[in-house]
Parts: sequence; structure tokens; C-alpha cells
Amino acid sequence: MTDAEALKRQAAARALEFVTDGMRLGLGTGSTAKHFVDLLAERVKAGLTVVGVPTSERTYHQALSLGVPLATLDEQPELDLCIDGADEVGPGLSLIKGGGGALLREKLVASAAKEMVVIADASKHVDMLGAFPLPIEVVDFGLAALRPRLEAAIAAADCGGKLTLRRDASGAPFRTDQGNVILDAHLGRIPDPAALADALDGVVGVVEHGLFLGLARRVVLAAPDGIRLLASPA
Ligand code: A5P
Repeated sequence: MTDAEALKRQAAARALEFVTDGMRLGLGTGSTAKHFVDLLAERVKAGLTVVGVPTSERTYHQALSLGVPLATLDEQPELDLCIDGADEVGPGLSLIKGGGGALLREKLVASAAKEMVVIADASKHVDMLGAFPLPIEVVDFGLAALRPRLEAAIAAADCGGKLTLRRDASGAPFRTDQGNVILDAHLGRIPDPAALADALDGVVGVVEHGLFLGLARRVVLAAPDGIRLLASPA
């Protein structure tokens, strides 16, 4: 395992301490969340009783193969805890998510949980969001008409940068689990994430964006010199 993977696993292991018997859990997506599901499965084998709601088909298949009891969000609309990774963790536990393309289901699942705990290696912690391209999930109808409206919304929030259509390994437009496409906004800096989120929310054709604001209650950051826990004041 590389050093980076080892740190992700440490963060996942620490977050497992928040899990108690009987919990309904949101299961995140990405390489860090994958470690969490691996470790959770070990605890389930040892007798822990939980039910997981996966945030992607990828996580669904992983958890299923490891014997973690699963439900859909329709079957378990209220969750106790959601554990997920992030692409960036900024001030006030603001997040950029969606590097893995699962932002829509991730936001739905996190919003259904009493608490969201983010797990990450410490390199994800930043003073200002935006170096990581912001994923914006959009419908694939009329992209040429949507782009200028998106650019105007982004400019209104004092941001700017290229919008690139995400592609998969074959070069075709990447499709989310909901069948939509993703525009990655290369903004560099997002001085006012709330203003940008509001502006994006107002654009017809935007299904969801990767700004997760006011959702994370705790962040477990793993660094070579140990684990740091960040908590939101609320
Ligand atoms: C998935 O869509 C993302 O939101 C992931 O949670 C995020 O990209 C973090 O992934 P890693 O743990 O692989 O860095």
C-alpha cells in the first residue's frame, strides 16, 4: 500500500469509531470511502449490525460483495451517519466533492443523514476551495445553451475559468449513475462558496454541483504525524 493509501485507510479506521450497533449508514464513494467499506465489512463479519445506503453503483457492488447489509434511500430515508471522502476540505468544513462523479447521490445521502463525517488524507485540507475543478452535473440536453448561462452564474460569484466536459476512458462523455454528464469548472479559487452555490442552483439544467456546504459536521484528516479531527461549531 502506498503512503497515501495508508493515510486514507487510517482516516477510514478512525471514522469507524463513530459507528455503533444498529446504525443506518450512508456509504460514500471514492478511494478513501472504499477503505471505510472494507473496514466496515470486517466489523460486520465480527457481528456489528448496520445497514448501509451506498452513494454509487461502485460502492453498492463493493459493499454487496463484502456482505454488508444494504438498503436503498427509499427503504431507509433517514440515516444516522454518512461517511464519505472529499476532494477538498475548506474553511467551515466546506467541501468540493464529485471527483468520482457520484456527487448527486452523495449529496442526497449526506442530506438524509443526521451527521456527515468526511474522511481524507491531510493533503485535501485547503485555505480556499477551488484548486480542484468543481464538478457540475448537468442534463445533456442543450449543453451549448447551458454553457454561457453557467459561465454568467460563475462570473456573478466572482469566479471564472474553463468548463470542460468530463470524458471516460474511451473518450465518450462520462455518464453519472443518474445518466447525466459532468462539466468540471476549473476555477482556481472560490472566494465565496455560498454565493457560487446559490448562483449555480439558479441555472436551469444544473442537476447538482459539488459544493457541499453546511453538510459535514466532522472531518477526519490523516497526516503522517497523526490524525486530526475538525468539527463544525454547530
Ligand atoms: C466521488 O464522487 C467523490 O465525491 C469522492 O468522495 C471524492 O472524489 C474523494 O475521492 P477519493 O477518496 O478517491 O480522493
